[in-house]
Amino acid sequence: MKPKNLKFPFDWESRAPLLQDDVFYVPNHYEQHDLWSKEKLLGEHFSRFASISVEYCAGNGAWIAEKAKENLDVLWIAVDKRFDRVRKIWAKKQNLALDNLFIVCGDAFTFTKNYLPSGVVNEIFINFPDPWPKARHAKHRVVQNYFVQEMARVSKEGGEAVWVTDDAPYSLQILSEMLEGKIWEPSFNHPFYTTTWPTYGTSFFEALWKEQGKEIRYMKFIKNTSK
Ligand SMILES: C[S@@+](CC[C@H](N)C(=O)[O-])C[C@H]1O[C@@H](n2cnc3c(N)ncnc32)[C@H](O)[C@@H]1O
Repeated sequence: MKPKNLKFPFDWESRAPLLQDDVFYVPNHYEQHDLWSKEKLLGEHFSRFASISVEYCAGNGAWIAEKAKENLDVLWIAVDKRFDRVRKIWAKKQNLALDNLFIVCGDAFTFTKNYLPSGVVNEIFINFPDPWPKARHAKHRVVQNYFVQEMARVSKEGGEAVWVTDDAPYSLQILSEMLEGKIWEPSFNHPFYTTTWPTYGTSFFEALWKEQGKEIRYMKFIKNTSK
């Protein structure tokens, strides 16, 4: 199966949330997300699995496909807003016959807010989110206070969130947003990241940046509301 075998399912006028060809499409500039109940989407997929792990900004899916192959009892949810990336994840899912990989074509925040129930996610991963280094583009960064709060809402108590980036200023913003609400506790001691994690897995951008000798920062947090 090739990425081009997946066709985009609707045009602008007929856009609506749609589960088709093993992909859940979450349209932009759409107001009626509440027509779906949060439980409906995962209800059919959830009960067979021991736990749920979500990767936001999954790109071509190299990292999550490997994880899904290694952990068949986990439901892996890959989220990316770009259809050209989603196609690549979809091709990996088909070619590796990964029944435990659920693909979402849509914005991370919109999907999470409207389609994930509270307290169901065990692990969240965000590998190499676009840093948008210019200040005037900061609104495009996925790390925003409202998104971090949604991550906390959908996570189980004791659930984990891992951010990985090669961009030092962006890592500081991630730390600042994650630590602000006092819900996410850092797992690593100050400065709250590690630069090596041999068993972590390899995404497309991790391989690229490592080849160029860049330092990678891995930041892990645990949801703890008991303080
Ligand atoms: C730099 S790439 C990293 C891809 C992959 N994680 C890797 O490490 O190879 C960033 C990805 O994030 C996706 N992305 C950016 N903002 C997003 C958002 N708000 N919701 C979903 N995906 C997003 C982009 O489409 C792109 O595929």
